[in-house]
Amino acid sequence: MIELKSVTKRFGGETAVDAISLTVNRGELCALVGTSGCGKSTTLRMINRLIEHDGGEIHIDGRPIREFDGRVLRRRIGYAIQSTGLFPHWTVARNIGLVPRLLKWPAGRVNERVEELMVLLGLSVEQFADKYPSQLSGGQAQRVGVARALAADP
Ligand SMILES: Nc1ncnc2c1ncn2[C@@H]1O[C@H](COP(=O)(O)OP(=O)(O)OP(=O)(O)O)[C@@H](O)[C@H]1O
Ligand SMILES: [Mg+2]
Repeated sequence: MIELKSVTKRFGGETAVDAISLTVNRGELCALVGTSGCGKSTTLRMINRLIEHDGGEIHIDGRPIREFDGRVLRRRIGYAIQSTGLFPHWTVARNIGLVPRLLKWPAGRVNERVEELMVLLGLSVEQFADKYPSQLSGGQAQRVGVARALAADP
């Protein structure tokens, strides 16, 4: 029913999904399991065309999904999204530092705490501090949410 052949997705220079191939038969239950950021959600979102793949082929019922209208396709596919409640217009660092700033910590101490938590939660400061929530994987965003919850040592 669903067939992926060597499907690839890049965001800028970064390869999010690297030549995945799989077949899901009608009535079959399939789970994608893997580390945070390995490309699971991106793979699902390519199948319902919330994200366009840029290499390989995806077929549903034997037809390439590029032949379907995206909205029509999505009406046939149920999708429960991951969600986090981060402020979408704020960077990762600003989201994490929210409560300390409200508590009027000095800026230097806020920055130190933000970096400490990012390291603790496996989010490289260089890579993620200035990204926006929409640029993160679901688990990365959830870890930002955890960092924000811990920021002021509750
Ligand atoms: N819109 C985007 N722009 C840039 N990079 C992105 C974007 N969406 C995802 N990425 C990157 O692509 C990679 C795969 O993300 P994806 O959301 O597919 O991961 P995942 O396997 O679902 O992870 P998780 O278990 O954390 O939900 C990650 O490194 C992520 O940072
Ligand atoms: Mg995900």
